[in-house]
Amino acid sequence: MEISNRLKNIPPYVFAELDKKRQVVAARGVDVINLGIGDPDQPTPKHVVEAMQEALNNPLNHRYPPFGGTKEYKEAAVRWFKNRFGIEFSVDNEITSLIGSKEGIHNVIHAFVDPGDIALIPDPAYPVYKSSTVLAGGTPYAMPLLPENEFLADLDAIPEDIARKAKIMFLNYPNNPTGAVCDLAYLEKAVAFARKYDILFVHDLAYSEMTFDGYKAHSVFEVPNAKDVAIELHSLSKTFNMTGWRIGFAIGNSYAVKALAQLKSNIDTDVFRAIQVAAIAAFDGPRTDIERCNAIYQERRDVTFDALRKLGWSLKPLRATFYMWLPVPTGMTAADFSTLMLEEAGIVVPPGTAYGACGEGFFRMSLCTDKARLAEAFARMEKHSITFDRNAAKV
Ligand SMILES: Cc1ncc(COP(=O)(O)O)c(C=O)c1O
Repeated sequence: MEISNRLKNIPPYVFAELDKKRQVVAARGVDVINLGIGDPDQPTPKHVVEAMQEALNNPLNHRYPPFGGTKEYKEAAVRWFKNRFGIEFSVDNEITSLIGSKEGIHNVIHAFVDPGDIALIPDPAYPVYKSSTVLAGGTPYAMPLLPENEFLADLDAIPEDIARKAKIMFLNYPNNPTGAVCDLAYLEKAVAFARKYDILFVHDLAYSEMTFDGYKAHSVFEVPNAKDVAIELHSLSKTFNMTGWRIGFAIGNSYAVKALAQLKSNIDTDVFRAIQVAAIAAFDGPRTDIERCNAIYQERRDVTFDALRKLGWSLKPLRATFYMWLPVPTGMTAADFSTLMLEEAGIVVPPGTAYGACGEGFFRMSLCTDKARLAEAFARMEKHSITFDRNAAKV
């Protein structure tokens, strides 16, 4: 028995590996604090859970759901989009349901990338853009996200021959793992770039609602005629604390939506209909839960900023996502620092390199843990002298 070369070409999923290391340390009796996960710790809103409970009693929902999502689900998503961004979409050909945006990323790549094609992918990034490109036989081309560019991919730096060979480009703002945001002018530039080189631009907007201090994230469709070249992936995972439910949608360019839906119809049989009913309740419900959660993240962010400043880090404002992207102490690699945090302080933080080569020199800290636990983590860092300048004297 032998696995495919395709699978051999991709490394083990980084977070599964990180979790194995956490388990080894926890087995020694260490009370490990996990600041590595990007999974909301607040529950799914009550009205969504109740809608699901009721939907479970309807035998119609026990049967195969329709391909591409129920009409009611798509209508609710389109309604939500119109309320949130002021943009209209056709329920018939500009939207398809997803079993979470991870699935959408994987399948849109398989719908557009042939062996040898180039996919433009941010680095650092959510790892699935790259691994699914490799699984499709494509060639990922890394667009570095650098602090000097506010972690925006520099589209002007992409060589002409690469741009000409590219079939698809991913961008994701608000961004995992850097927490960066972009303005509309940047999305305009990305749309113009995609138009010039005839590339499908996939905007991954998984964190559209997780924003602070009055900042509101942009949809690519606020750019006039973006539908000509773009689709956007949306997910209920982070917006409505529904990571385990597995539901989202792709919206935009009808050719791309159709291709994605066609591929999916050969692979999966859509989202359990009761989950789609619950998702409608989420879309149509009040925004109070979103605002409550954002207030919680904002408070944790502020606690974290204060503590890390005291430990020597200088920090830029975080206006979106529950991720902080921080430089490791001078003289260390990202992997060294992640190991040090786990072995000495019992704290899990992924090394920046888990998100791409440009993540060297960084680590990611997430805010999915309550204030008391965060305070405990910073107390442990202080106790073990894990400060930003801990190696300054040695270099
Ligand atoms: C940038 C980004 N895109 C997509 C996803 C996948 O989310 P889901 O499949 O739960 O919708 C994540 C999850 O962390 C993410 O960070």
